[in-house]
Amino acid sequence: MQIAIEAKPYAALETEALVSYIFEESDPVQGRISELDQAANGLLRTLARSGELTGKTLEMTLIHAPAGLKAARLLLVGAGKREQFTSAILRKIAGAALRYLKARSVKQFAFLVRESAPAEESAQAVAEGALAANFESDKYKTEKKNDKSIDTILLAGYSDAERTAAEKGLARGRVIADAQNWARDLINEPSNKLTPKILAEKAEAMAKQAGLAVEILDEKKITELKMGALLSVSQGGPEPPRVMVVTYTPANSKPGAPVIGLIGKAVTFDTGGISIKPADGMEKMKYDMAGGATMLGVMRALAVLKPNVKVICVVPSTENMPGGTAQKPGDIQTAMSGKTIEVLNTDAEGRLILADGIHYAKQLGATHLIDAATLTGAIVVALANVNVGVFGSDQPFTDKFLASAKAAGEKMWQMPIDDDYREFIKGTVADIQNIGSGKGGGAITGAMFIKEFTGDSPWIHLDIAGTAWNDDAKSWLAKGPTGVALRTLVQLVMSY
Ligand code: BES
Ligand code: MN
Ligand code: ZN
Repeated sequence: MQIAIEAKPYAALETEALVSYIFEESDPVQGRISELDQAANGLLRTLARSGELTGKTLEMTLIHAPAGLKAARLLLVGAGKREQFTSAILRKIAGAALRYLKARSVKQFAFLVRESAPAEESAQAVAEGALAANFESDKYKTEKKNDKSIDTILLAGYSDAERTAAEKGLARGRVIADAQNWARDLINEPSNKLTPKILAEKAEAMAKQAGLAVEILDEKKITELKMGALLSVSQGGPEPPRVMVVTYTPANSKPGAPVIGLIGKAVTFDTGGISIKPADGMEKMKYDMAGGATMLGVMRALAVLKPNVKVICVVPSTENMPGGTAQKPGDIQTAMSGKTIEVLNTDAEGRLILADGIHYAKQLGATHLIDAATLTGAIVVALANVNVGVFGSDQPFTDKFLASAKAAGEKMWQMPIDDDYREFIKGTVADIQNIGSGKGGGAITGAMFIKEFTGDSPWIHLDIAGTAWNDDAKSWLAKGPTGVALRTLVQLVMSY
């Protein structure tokens, strides 16, 4: 899909649809919308007076053959209250407009930003929203809906003076959204098409193409490194584990500067192991590698955006299978760090593989750690599928992260990890146990377990179990993988 800045006056654009957005206020026909209204002989004001055009968030008003415009259609999307308007809403508006028009077999449209929209920020938001909205899970459909695809978007409404900034925002938005869609594509792959080995091959190919340093640890190297927690999960099935290490080093790397470690859980299928999951809905456990795919996607974007800070991405990957060689409840494992773990539930496997991933990232020199994982069903109970659960051991670092989430327009909510919860994972026969002995707080217990392997390093844990997958299509995003947290992580790294 092409997106290009268009300088021509919008009334003269010969396009299949001209799209803009309208605020919910006493007189929604203002500024550029008022200009459109004049071109359309007052139709918009009439619709507003009649109550059909209100500006309520994501309300769609489609007008065919609008008088006075060269466009075949005029689509006005509700933007909600002007005071509450953010680039996060603009991103959704662009996405919802794309999906609305695509469903009506439109192939090309012009998106008109409103007067006084900040050029760089708005162009980035529209590009991100439109490109993410254009993603469909039709890779394995033999009959593709080719008649339903958007080929071109013209981005209009910027002055000549704003053009450079708009181009910059558009380019950045494209890099970020392409990385997000790349990750979503991986997350969508079923486990027979994406084993740890295949994921590692894809990560390696991506890194080489992007110009990033990459090392893939195979089962032999993983054994040599004594990654006992990761190996305990992979022993349940025939697919060998992998650890992907992708590194970005800035041109002016200074000694003593922070090194960010991004660790992502990549369980390519989670049956639960011997503590097996119920059959109902188990197919969804193909997305248990979303954290890993997201971290790799972040690296793909960073390779182009070139931040000033070094970033090491470590992605441990395995299946979690209940084979004859599988670990059993009560087994004791020794993690790479030397800590012993009582595995009371083989379905709490994400924290096991992250334990070794985090320890290895630290060994490679990471000073600030962030992990992303589809870790617990409990986070879905706590935050539903709305907010990412954020756990942080260092408040200034966590605050910086939450500010990035806000800027990137991703909903995240900080959860507690005080020492009172440490009791929950104290082991009876080993140092720690992999599930909590207390009642409730399952997402926190998972975080506390991971924390054991972070030492003194500032660390953030993202539980994306509730947000990495859309069970229902949204008007601005298809059903399926979301690529959540990628934009926030890119935003955070770029802020260094
Ligand atoms: N991959 C699951 C968590 C999950 C649940 C992801 C729902 C996406 C949607 C994880 O490995 C898991 O099984 N967690 C257990 C932990 C429990 C045994 C302490 C859970 O949440 O039930
Ligand atoms: Mn599990
Ligand atoms: Zn899992």
